[in-house]
Amino acid sequence: MKEFWNERYSEAQYAYGLEANDFLKAQQIGSGLKILCLAEGEGRNGVYLAKLGNEVTCVDYSEAGLEKTRTLAKQNGVEVTCVCADLGQMNLQAASWDLIIGIFAHFPKSVKEHI
Ligand SMILES: C[S@@+](CC[C@H](N)C(=O)[O-])C[C@H]1O[C@@H](n2cnc3c(N)ncnc32)[C@H](O)[C@@H]1O
Repeated sequence: MKEFWNERYSEAQYAYGLEANDFLKAQQIGSGLKILCLAEGEGRNGVYLAKLGNEVTCVDYSEAGLEKTRTLAKQNGVEVTCVCADLGQMNLQAASWDLIIGIFAHFPKSVKEHI
């Protein structure tokens, strides 16, 4: 599946667009939060949260997606930390985040149980 996402994100166009997810935008998320974005893909949600004034880390196992996340962040004048990792193996250290989001993050049972 990782190869699938790398191939999908190799296109110039952003697969899910440049705008953050509507549900996420409808939430009253403030600034100054330490936020972890799971399976963030090309960065539309993480960049949105960074533009609100948050400290954002985006995790995905697709390096191609994270490269586009870095580009989108730069274009928007914000910084996000990108971590290339498989969420089925990563230790999220849940207590160290103010907020953890996962938009369109569909995982097999084994990954869900690990998270
Ligand atoms: C449907 S896309 C959603 C992307 C992004 N959250 C958004 O809303 O635009 C699903 C994402 O999950 C990532 N993903 C799937 N399984 C993963 C895993 N085990 N570890 C890390 N990322 C994973 C894929 O690389 C892909 O970027």
